[in-house]
Amino acid sequence: MPEPLRLGIAGLGTVGVGVVRIIRQHADLLSARTGRQILITAVSARDKSKDRGVALGSYDWEDDPVSLATRDDVDVFVELVGGDEGPAKKAVEAALAAGKDVVTANKALLAMHGQSLAEAAEQKGCALRYEAAVAGGIPVIKSLTEGLVANDVTRVMGVMNGSCNYILTRMETAGLSYAEVFAEADGLGYLEADPQLDVGGIDAAHKLAILATLAFGTKVDFDGIVLEGIDRVSIEDIRAAADMGYKIKLLGVAQKTGRGLEQRMQPCLVPDSSPLGQLDGGTNMVVLEGDAVGQIVLRGPGAGEGPTASAVMADVCDIAKGWRGPVFGLPAGQLTTATPARTQLPAPYYLRMSLDDKPGALAKVAKVLGEAGVSIDRMRQYGHEDTSAPVLIVTHKTTPDALRTALDAMQSTDVLAGSPVALRIEAV
Ligand code: NAP
Ligand code: HSE
Repeated sequence: MPEPLRLGIAGLGTVGVGVVRIIRQHADLLSARTGRQILITAVSARDKSKDRGVALGSYDWEDDPVSLATRDDVDVFVELVGGDEGPAKKAVEAALAAGKDVVTANKALLAMHGQSLAEAAEQKGCALRYEAAVAGGIPVIKSLTEGLVANDVTRVMGVMNGSCNYILTRMETAGLSYAEVFAEADGLGYLEADPQLDVGGIDAAHKLAILATLAFGTKVDFDGIVLEGIDRVSIEDIRAAADMGYKIKLLGVAQKTGRGLEQRMQPCLVPDSSPLGQLDGGTNMVVLEGDAVGQIVLRGPGAGEGPTASAVMADVCDIAKGWRGPVFGLPAGQLTTATPARTQLPAPYYLRMSLDDKPGALAKVAKVLGEAGVSIDRMRQYGHEDTSAPVLIVTHKTTPDALRTALDAMQSTDVLAGSPVALRIEAV
């Protein structure tokens, strides 16, 4: 049997403890499947005295993840600390410089420094693997780099932040406001220490940036993502969208268009009968489209100890088997610089507005839409008791520019009570 594969694990929180558990519980299975023993040499975290519910006494302890990453008796440095700067970045860089293979679950690190880390890894002939960084337990990185390797990928999209999907689902099922459900989710510990990473769409956008690189062979371009979180999604919109046959999701979409690479993470409407529309709670879903395969839909747990550790171990096992390849599917030097699309492809839009209930109000709105070239597909006005009438409009496909022109013109019609809400409807 070949030499054992020796791991150094930095970070013993949710994911790190999960990895230790799998290695202990499945030692024989892992060895049978990879042809080598997988051992832990040493571990690192902040607090050595913390009871983590798993026996760590047989492993050496390092206070400093950099010292762990560069030990002679560590073959693979497993980074489960998190954060795009600080100890995680320093230790991963140190590991690669020392010629160690690296496995990480850190989407923030890859989204911000993916290119330089990939260059460093490939220069040293090291693996840098990150299956757990996108959609937790769903094997989406392998799907793109292996299963769909023969495809020209045309679009990747998905719901990749379980906390946001939980919040939107709970608003819908309990009829609660965003603020109420946010407070509830925070109290239950469902949100990151900085909740803006979740509700601001940043965590999901980190994941989208990584998928776009794999799908389109472009350098990771987090700054090129059009980003909007869920904090402005109202219960009124969730109800109204449902009434028109849609669900609101924080949806990430990346696609190559004639105008460049379109990457966006924003609340969108999707048909409620579609797989994405049916996705409730904290589950993730990634939809991949390729010229040969058509569309595939991957659904599963995007977070949590077991699912995330499962993905980390998939990378560890590939390294144990000697499977190597460029970090982002193509050699880092061949990744091109993305040209961000100047504008989004045309789409239908959902509009919700309150109109003064007086003769000609609706006609004025229809007129400005028509003048901007925005065509109405469906429209609904609801009964009401005060002086303004709630109106919903679903447009035919239109450009964001035409829609903006119409919305600006609408503001000066003197028939609107408040500002209209506009949300993109994604074809899924
Ligand atoms: P976590 O529970 O907060 O654990 C972080 C660990 O890092 C803790 O053990 C902490 O030590 C340790 N740490 C922090 N600063 C350190 C330092 N300066 N030196 C050494 N150790 C340090 O985080 P997690 O949820 O396991 O997430 C780990 C990574 O996986 C992150 O990149 C995260 O984005 C990613 N991820 C997590 C999930 C998930 O479901 N949790 C899913 C996908 C990806 P102490 O315990 O002593 O404080
Ligand atoms: N906060 C993230 C989520 C954890 O809710 O999906 C996994 O990245």
